[in-house]
Amino acid sequence: MLGIILWLFIAYIVGSIPFGLIIARATCGIDPRTGGSGNVGATNVARLCGTRWGIATLLCDLLKGTLPVWIGMAVSDSPLFLSCVALAALGGHVYSMFLDFKGGKAVATTIGIFIPLAFNSILLAAIACALVIWRSGYVSLGSLTLVTVMPLLLFLGGGWSYIPLSLVVMALVYWTHRENIGRLARGEEKAWQKKKHEEQ
Ligand code: G3P
Repeated sequence: MLGIILWLFIAYIVGSIPFGLIIARATCGIDPRTGGSGNVGATNVARLCGTRWGIATLLCDLLKGTLPVWIGMAVSDSPLFLSCVALAALGGHVYSMFLDFKGGKAVATTIGIFIPLAFNSILLAAIACALVIWRSGYVSLGSLTLVTVMPLLLFLGGGWSYIPLSLVVMALVYWTHRENIGRLARGEEKAWQKKKHEEQ
């Protein structure tokens, strides 16, 4: 029991590491909370510091989800335990202990948690996300698509144990994107390329 609680706490601490802030400060001397969308995630780091540092942030944030879940599989293969580990990592990312309990929007870390749990489903969801971003230009719309199709893909693919996790994640990501949703509804969300130019 103590091992389980300890691992949940470690997952939260790992999720809390603000890679976007660290990478943006180190590479272009910008605090992403003060520029672009104000988010510390990969999209905003790419917007402010360039695509390659956005990709670096994406990979680091993704690993924050993958590693705690993957190592947690050695502690227990219980879907409830692994779902809690995944949520602890996501909670750390969104409510980081290093950022006054504020943080990112949880998309890269969501991809990360599902890589060891439901690889085929998250791969298809990521492809759907990429297609929406490519066709619409809105990263936020792609992110919302990813978390919306994930429960359906788990259902179709037989990954039923993780459907409750995917539904909680969907609610969390809709919550973190509430301002993006408002802008999308009002037609004020800026498409990726347009936004990039306007921020420069
Ligand atoms: O993953 C975050 C993305 O969906 C939106 O990012 O910076 O445009 O709010 P941003």
